Amino acid sequence: TDMDGFIAGLPKAELHMHLEGSLEPELMVALARRNGVEIPYASAEQARRAYAFTQLQDFLDLYYRGMSVLKTEQDFRDLTSAYLERVARDNAIHVELFFDPQGHTERGVPLDVVMRGITGALDEGQRKLGISHRLILCILRHLSEKEGLEALEAALPWRHRIVGVGLDSSEKGHPPAKFERLFRRAGELGFLRVAHAGEEGPPAYVREALDRLRIDRLDHGNRSLEDPALVERLRHLQMTLTVCPLSNLKLKVVERLEDHPLRRMLQAGLRATVNSDDPAYFGGYLGDNYRAIQKALSLTRDELATLARNSFLGSFMTEAEKKAAI
Ligand code: HPA
Ligand code: ZN
Repeated sequence: TDMDGFIAGLPKAELHMHLEGSLEPELMVALARRNGVEIPYASAEQARRAYAFTQLQDFLDLYYRGMSVLKTEQDFRDLTSAYLERVARDNAIHVELFFDPQGHTERGVPLDVVMRGITGALDEGQRKLGISHRLILCILRHLSEKEGLEALEAALPWRHRIVGVGLDSSEKGHPPAKFERLFRRAGELGFLRVAHAGEEGPPAYVREALDRLRIDRLDHGNRSLEDPALVERLRHLQMTLTVCPLSNLKLKVVERLEDHPLRRMLQAGLRATVNSDDPAYFGGYLGDNYRAIQKALSLTRDELATLARNSFLGSFMTEAEKKAAI
């Protein structure tokens, strides 16, 4: 359609994408074979059929099992390259990627292997596809703060390749306050700070992420809308929200995409962006998310252009890079 053409033509940044969540079943099966790792799927089709989760924890169980096929530098390189080639077709010109080092070091994969693979592919993506990048190290919130602090310190040899620290995994029962010291340390080390909050968790978790983690960007944030004073605060701060429509649908944060709060966020003056979260698991890459939410909410060209512009404004690009992109 016309709108799909308009969306395709918009240069975009993606700000909320878990690299391990871009592992397509085909690559998972191929890497399982290459590395002799046992997975409970005989084929990519079988894996896809198993993706029947309807809540965050059920997804996470499959996500952690899926990433167990990633063992070598080449595996991380293949994973990252596949994502970059795919998102280049959606006219993404800048990406800020989450990765979960604890999901790998726990399995005995050294951080150097992870980092060499990912950064090698990112550098190639910059050269060959013209896609700029930032990396955000995510801390698994279902583990202890002490383990998170150890993961942060272990990453310091790679400090020059990591722009920020994030917080992901099981939200309920693991409030932001659990990681207050870790985020203070991250700030002292000069990292930018982001956190998943208000996806499944209540508005209070968003307030905690602001007050106690001092976040520079809010991942998801949907449930902030339940608290008008919080909305006003986010608007006043011009806090960027990295919203993930198809993820929200798949994990039942919204019952139907037509009920999605994205337009209400824009109308409230919030700096919302569109992102794919875990595209191999949630049914679509960046362009799919734009197209699906445009159709569901009948978003206008102006609204779509605002979303794309927000993706650069809310990015961790330099001011000069932002100016060039917008
Ligand atoms: N939510 C929380 N943690 C995650 C996700 C998500 O969508 N994807 C990977 N880790
Ligand atoms: Zn996420």
